[in-house]
Amino acid sequence: MKIFLAGATGAIGTQLVPLLLSSGHLVTGTTRSITKGDALRSAGVEPVIVDVFDAPALSRAVAAARPDVVVHQLTDLPPGLDPSRMAEGARRNARMRSEGTKNLVTAALESAVPRLVAQSIAWMYAPGPEPHSEDDSLDVGAQGTRAITVGGVATLERLTLSSPPIDGIVLRYGHLYGPGTGTAATSEVPCLHVDAAASAALLAIEKAHRGIYNIAEPNGYLSIEKARRELGYDPHFRRDGHTTP
Ligand SMILES: NC(=O)c1ccc[n+]([C@@H]2O[C@H](COP(=O)([O-])OP(=O)(O)OC[C@H]3O[C@@H](n4cnc5c(N)ncnc54)[C@H](OP(=O)(O)O)[C@@H]3O)[C@@H](O)[C@H]2O)c1
Repeated sequence: MKIFLAGATGAIGTQLVPLLLSSGHLVTGTTRSITKGDALRSAGVEPVIVDVFDAPALSRAVAAARPDVVVHQLTDLPPGLDPSRMAEGARRNARMRSEGTKNLVTAALESAVPRLVAQSIAWMYAPGPEPHSEDDSLDVGAQGTRAITVGGVATLERLTLSSPPIDGIVLRYGHLYGPGTGTAATSEVPCLHVDAAASAALLAIEKAHRGIYNIAEPNGYLSIEKARRELGYDPHFRRDGHTTP
């Protein structure tokens, strides 16, 4: 398939590129940086230098790529999730999830792209019985920074799932750790190794049905059974072939 990977240079995008290429897909990948674009080309990706907030340029880029699938791995977060920059990061990321997703969906609709796979997060469920399934409500009664994040997540998910005729798939990822995330391990729940996040994106591109999938390591907060059952998702997948128990 031809894949348009928005966010090819991010924590997940970087791990997803080699998985896509080794599975035989053709990849067009976005970055705003010419230098990173050169690195993408060396890795076997057709680079596109584009800012997602430049809607006309984004539409032209998607039209030129003529993809079968658009993959949304765009975030706007400080490196390593630097705590001193997280309040501003939450606002910027909410704008990415609302305006950025809107521009990406518009570009996909204009080019009749049939499928969209988008990155969301898995720890925004409203308080209630656990483990949470994908049908449980988002925490729309949240306050402060969490309210800003929930607002962005809700918009991203609505645009992804309700923009017919696009077949929209939302991956609700746990807190990332591993290469490129700034942390080798995390005590946050739910958590997720970045390699397993990338493998879930590949599985979703190839197999998922329209809807939402929780993607994390097994934990008491949420259920990952849908992704295991429908996608064959393995939370212990690692790109080097070594898995953790
Ligand atoms: N579920 C999670 O826990 C989760 C999810 C995502 C990220 N994070 C964490 O957040 C931190 C930063 O993440 P990250 O390394 O993925 O970097 P990031 O700075 O959040 O960027 C991610 C991707 O989005 C692209 N991007 C950002 N703004 C853009 C814009 N206006 N237009 C087009 N593309 C844009 C970046 O491209 P260019 O910069 O190349 O243009 C990059 O490919 C890391 O510590 C990571 O682990 C956590």
